[in-house]
Amino acid sequence: MKMLYVRIVQITACSILLSACVCQSTGLNKYVPGLGEIMGQIAMRHTKLWYAGAAQNWELAAYELKELEEGFEDAGKFHPTLKHVAQWLPVLFAGNMQKPLAHLEQAVKERNLAQFTQNYDALTKACNTCHRSTRFGFNKIKRPNFNPYSNQVFETEN
Ligand code: HEC
Repeated sequence: MKMLYVRIVQITACSILLSACVCQSTGLNKYVPGLGEIMGQIAMRHTKLWYAGAAQNWELAAYELKELEEGFEDAGKFHPTLKHVAQWLPVLFAGNMQKPLAHLEQAVKERNLAQFTQNYDALTKACNTCHRSTRFGFNKIKRPNFNPYSNQVFETEN
């Protein structure tokens, strides 16, 4: 009986050590940004996208759009669920963002400022729809009217 007890203790200690090793080697205890932090990055891309499009710097606009999409990928990957929300977050991201992002991509590809402006506003509206449906409706997004990124050039050379 005592031997069995010792054996169980040994096995338990071993599995605790093993899982600690696995965690370290797979990086499970690495820093993961919170959803609010990722959203802050998304909001920054949203601002930069506006100034790139308004300056008709389509190359930069395409870049910011891609970064925005990657932000939503990360948000869904690191935060697939939210306590008080019944739906999966990746489903909500896709449902709200896929269409406006695709329309914006098209506008950027066609270098069409009017289409860009219209679809940018549609995207912004969709950000707020999702905020309301996740009970974060007080986080209201709008078209920026001031560019805080004065150290970046948004205009094209020519
Ligand atoms: C799942 C639907 C969803 C979509 C789509 C979405 N958000 Fe959010 N957003 C959230 C949630 C949930 C939070 C609160 C996260 C938290 O604090 O845990 C949030 C928070 C924020 C915040 C507050 C962060 C802060 O630190 O002040 C900003 C800004 C934001 N979102 C911007 C955007 C923008 C811009 C878009 C669209 C381009 C967008 N969000 C699209 C769900 C969404």
